[in-house]
Amino acid sequence: MAQYQPTHFLHGGDYNPDQWLEYPEILAEDIRLMKKAHVNAVSVGIFSWAQLEPAEGEYRFEWLDRVIDSLTDAGIGIVLATPSGARPAWMAQKYPEVLRCNQNFQRMHYGKRHNHCLTSPVYREKVRQIDTALAQRYGQHKGILLWHIGNEFGGDCYCPLCAEAFRGWLQEKYGTLEELNRRWWTGFWSQRYSAWSQIEPPSPMGEQSNPSMLLDWRRFETAQCASFVRMEKEALQAAAPQIPVTTNLMERFWDYDYYTLSKEIDVVSWDSYPAWGSGDDILRAAEFAMQHDLMRSWKRQPFILMESTPSLVNWKAHNKLKRPGMHLLSSMQAVAHGSQSVMMFQWRKGRGGFEAFHGAVVSHDGRSDTRVFRDVEEVGGVLERLTPVLVQNTQANVCILFDYDSWWAVERVSAAQAGSMRYVDTVLQFYRSLWARGISVDFMDGSGRPETDAKTASSSDEKEKPEKITGEAELAVFDRYDLVIVPMLFLFKDGLDEKLRHYVEQGGTLLVTFFSGIVNEDHLTFLGDAPHGLTDVLGLRAEEIDAIYPEESNRLIFADSQNAEPALLHELCEIPRDVTASVIGTYGEDFYQGLPCLTKNAYGKGTAWYLAAKPDQAGTDAVMAKVMESLELPSAMDILEPGTEPGVVATRRGDYVFLQNYSGKEQTVTLRGVYYDSIRQQEVSAVTTLPVNGIMILTEK
Ligand code: GAL
Repeated sequence: MAQYQPTHFLHGGDYNPDQWLEYPEILAEDIRLMKKAHVNAVSVGIFSWAQLEPAEGEYRFEWLDRVIDSLTDAGIGIVLATPSGARPAWMAQKYPEVLRCNQNFQRMHYGKRHNHCLTSPVYREKVRQIDTALAQRYGQHKGILLWHIGNEFGGDCYCPLCAEAFRGWLQEKYGTLEELNRRWWTGFWSQRYSAWSQIEPPSPMGEQSNPSMLLDWRRFETAQCASFVRMEKEALQAAAPQIPVTTNLMERFWDYDYYTLSKEIDVVSWDSYPAWGSGDDILRAAEFAMQHDLMRSWKRQPFILMESTPSLVNWKAHNKLKRPGMHLLSSMQAVAHGSQSVMMFQWRKGRGGFEAFHGAVVSHDGRSDTRVFRDVEEVGGVLERLTPVLVQNTQANVCILFDYDSWWAVERVSAAQAGSMRYVDTVLQFYRSLWARGISVDFMDGSGRPETDAKTASSSDEKEKPEKITGEAELAVFDRYDLVIVPMLFLFKDGLDEKLRHYVEQGGTLLVTFFSGIVNEDHLTFLGDAPHGLTDVLGLRAEEIDAIYPEESNRLIFADSQNAEPALLHELCEIPRDVTASVIGTYGEDFYQGLPCLTKNAYGKGTAWYLAAKPDQAGTDAVMAKVMESLELPSAMDILEPGTEPGVVATRRGDYVFLQNYSGKEQTVTLRGVYYDSIRQQEVSAVTTLPVNGIMILTEK
C-alpha cells in the first residue's frame, strides 16, 4: 500500500490535451492559464485509450510525454489515469466479448463509455497490458502524483462470462447446492436448483424476485469490480509501487459496496455534483455534507475531491449556473469534511462531443477575464493559504450505521411501502439534524467497518467469511462514540446485536429505528422477536408495521408536551409491544393511538432509544433533541451565540471551523470570541455578516 501524503491541497481538474492534438499551441496556453488560476494538479488520460493505442499493440506515448514533461516543468503535478473507462472501437470490433450484455442478455454494440465487461479475460488482459506500459514509461517520472484507475466504475454486465463467474462465486460461497437452496429459501415457488448451470443473473427475462439472490448479485458485482481494480493496481504498482492509486467514486452509489471497493485503493476520491439552486440549498448542502462524510468514512481517511463543476453541468434537465460565492462555498464544504483537494471537471471545454457545453475553467472563448475563471482563481488562492488544514482531522463523537446490505435489501424488499423505502433519505434525516447542529459524524457499516478491516488487514483476496465475535476488541467497535444511530437497518450482519448490546452496556447511547433487525445476511428473517437480539436492550419488541398512504399522516405526541410540538409521521409506523422502556412519545392517531412511538430504556450503564415511526425533518430534529439532551456533544456551532437562522452551519475540521451560509439570504451572526478568518485574512469578532453563499474559515485567536 502506497501512502497518500500530500504536502499541499491539490487544485485543478480533468485535463484532455488528447482532444487538442491538432492545436499544438494550446498546451502552452493552458499551462499559462493554469498558473494564473493557481492550478497545481491535473488528471490526464482518463479516456485516452484510442490515442494511446490506436491499433492493437501499437502504443503512441509521444504526445503524452510532451504533456507530462511540460506540466512537470511548470510545476503542475499529474494524476495519471488508466484508460479503462472507455475502450477503442478496434477492440470492440475484434473482441465482442469486451462489450457488456444488458439485463435482457443482449450484447451491446460499440459506443459510450463504461460499456465493457469487467469479467472478460480479454478486456482484463488488454487493460493489464496498457497499464503496465504506462507504469513502465511514467512510473518513475517525478511529475506523477497519483494513479487514477479507470473512471467512475459502475453498472452490471449479464453476459455468459459474467453468468459463469456468478455461479463460480456462489459455489465458493455456499460449497454445495443444498446449502444455497437452504439459504436462498428456494422451497418458495418451486425455485429449487438441481444443477449450478440453472442459475442465471437476475433478469426481467427470468428470475429477479428472490431477495437472497438479488443481494448476492450485488455482492458478486462488488467483488468483480474490486478484483478488476486490484488487477489494475497490481499492474501499476509492479512498476511503480510508490505511487498511490485511487479511483473516483460517486454519490448515492448503489451498484457496489464502497466500503469493500475502497479496500483496493490507497486513497478515496469522488465526484461531487450537487444541483445548487434547484429549490432547497439547505437540503442539498446537508446531503452533500453527508456524501463527503461517507467518503471520509469508507477508509476512515481524508479523501480527494476529484471532480466538481466550476459553474454548471450539461446533463441535468436544467443546467443552472453556480450563483456568485457558491464555487468557493461548495469547494470549502468539501475541505471542511475532509477533502485534500478541490479538483474540477473540466479544465477546458472541448469543441465537440457530448460535454462541449459542460462547465469548465476555460470556455470556448479561451479567456481568463470571466466570472468562472475568477471564481476558480479565488479558490486556488484560498487553498494555498490552507496548507496547515491538511493535517487536521475530523473528530466525530457520533456514528451512524450506513450499510450496503441493508440499503440493497430495503429498497428491493416486497414489504411495507413497495418501491419507496428510501434508505438513504432516511439516514440523511438523522444526519441532517446533527449537521445543522454542527456535530461531526462518522459512518460505519453493520459489522463495524472500517475498524475491523484495519485490525485484521487481511488480503482482499480472502473469501467473504461471516464475522466471528472473538473478543473484547471486536465487540468494542462502537465504544469510542457517545451516540450510535441505527436507522432502518433492516439487515443485521452476524454479531451486530452483540456489538450494540456491549456498547450500551458500557455506557453508550443508542438510537434504533423502525424496520431494523429483521433479516440476517442471507435475507432470511430471524425467527423470534425483532429487532433481532436487542429486545431486552431496547425494552420492547416490534410487532407489526403499517405503511400509510402518501396523503395520510400520524403524529408523535411527546409525553413532555410543554417542550415539543407533536411530530408529523409519514410512510411507516411500527407498533411496539411488551414495552418496559420509558415512553417518551406516543402515537396520536389511528387504532394504535396512545401506544409508544418513542421510547428510552436504561440498560447496563447506557441508554437505548427506539423510534417506531418515520417523522418528517422537523420531527426528526425534535426526536434528536430529546436523544441528545443529556449528552453534551461537542459542536462547531459553539463558536456562535445561539439564535442563528436555518442554513447557517458550522463544521469543524481539527482547529478550523468552517462557517457556511446556505440560507440564500445574508445573515448576521454573533461570534463568541475573537477569530482569524483565513478567507478574508483578518480578525473577526462579535457581530459579523455572512453574505449569501458566504463562508468563513475560523481559527481561535
Ligand atoms: C463525471 C465523469 C466525467 C464527466 C463529468 C461531467 O461523472 O466522471 O468524466 O463526464 O461527470 O459532469
